[in-house]
Amino acid sequence: MKKGELLYEGKAKRLYRTENEDQLIAEFKDDLTAFNAQKRSSEEGKGALNAKISAHLFRLLEKEGIKTHLIDVLDENHHLVKKVEIIPIEVVVRNIATGSLSKRLGIEDGKILPFTLVEFYLKDDNLDDPIICDDHCMILELVDDRDKLRVLKDEAKKINTILKAFFTKRRLNLVDFKVEFGIDKNGEILLSDEISPDSCRFWDMDTNEIMDKDIFRKGIGSVKVAYEEVLNRVLKDL
Ligand code: TMP
Ligand code: ASP
Repeated sequence: MKKGELLYEGKAKRLYRTENEDQLIAEFKDDLTAFNAQKRSSEEGKGALNAKISAHLFRLLEKEGIKTHLIDVLDENHHLVKKVEIIPIEVVVRNIATGSLSKRLGIEDGKILPFTLVEFYLKDDNLDDPIICDDHCMILELVDDRDKLRVLKDEAKKINTILKAFFTKRRLNLVDFKVEFGIDKNGEILLSDEISPDSCRFWDMDTNEIMDKDIFRKGIGSVKVAYEEVLNRVLKDL
C-alpha cells in the first residue's frame, strides 16, 4: 500500500490518502508536544513505540467487541486505517484524580474516584480544548443526535473496563486516558486515533513511577525508556 497525498497533519500523526478512497495511512511521528504545543520536543523511535502499543491495544479491543478504524499494521510506524469523519470530541476517562481534574476541582492528586468518570472536551486547539457538557455538544452540532453521546460514553467505559483489567495484570495502573471516535461511510462509530502513553496515564503499581507523557509534560526524563517498558509489558503473554 503506497502513501498518497498528505490529507492531514496533527501534532503526533500524519494521515495520507491511499489508492482506496475508504482507507488512509496513519504515520506516527516522533514529535512530542504538551500544553497545546507550547512545549515541543522529539525522541527518535517514539512514534514506532506508540504505533506498536496502539496496534496491540486496538486488536485486543476488537477481540472484545469494540469496533476500531485499524485495518492493518504496515510497518513500524504506519497503520492502514478506515477513513472516518472524526467526531471533534476528546473523550476522557478517569479512574484516579490527577492532571486537569485535580487542578480544576481541587480533588487530591492520586485519589481513587468512587466511580469511573467520563468527560467530553472540545477538540479545538484555538480554544485550548475546553471541557464541554452534552448540551454544548448538541448546540455545537458535534453529533447529530443525543444517542450518539450515550454511545460514546458507553464505548469509553467498555474500553476502560477491558484496558484496566489488561494493565492491572501487567502491574500498571490505568489512571486516565483520552480516546477519539470517528464515523465511517456506513455511519458506524469506530474507535479511531490512538491509545498510547501519549494519550494515557500509567503509574507503575509497585513503585508509583510515571510511565507516560507526563514525563515530558513535567520534564522529568526521557519518555522512550518508559514507553519501551510499557510496550514490553503490553506484549507480555500472561
Ligand atoms: P488532563 O488531566 O490533562 O485533562 O488529561 C486527561 C487524559 O487525557 C490524560 O490521560 C492525558 C490525555 N490527554 C490527551 O491525550 N490529549 C490532550 O490534549 C490532553 C489535554 C490530555
Ligand atoms: N496533546 C496536547 C498537546 O500536544 C496536550 C497534552 O497532551 O498535554 O499540546
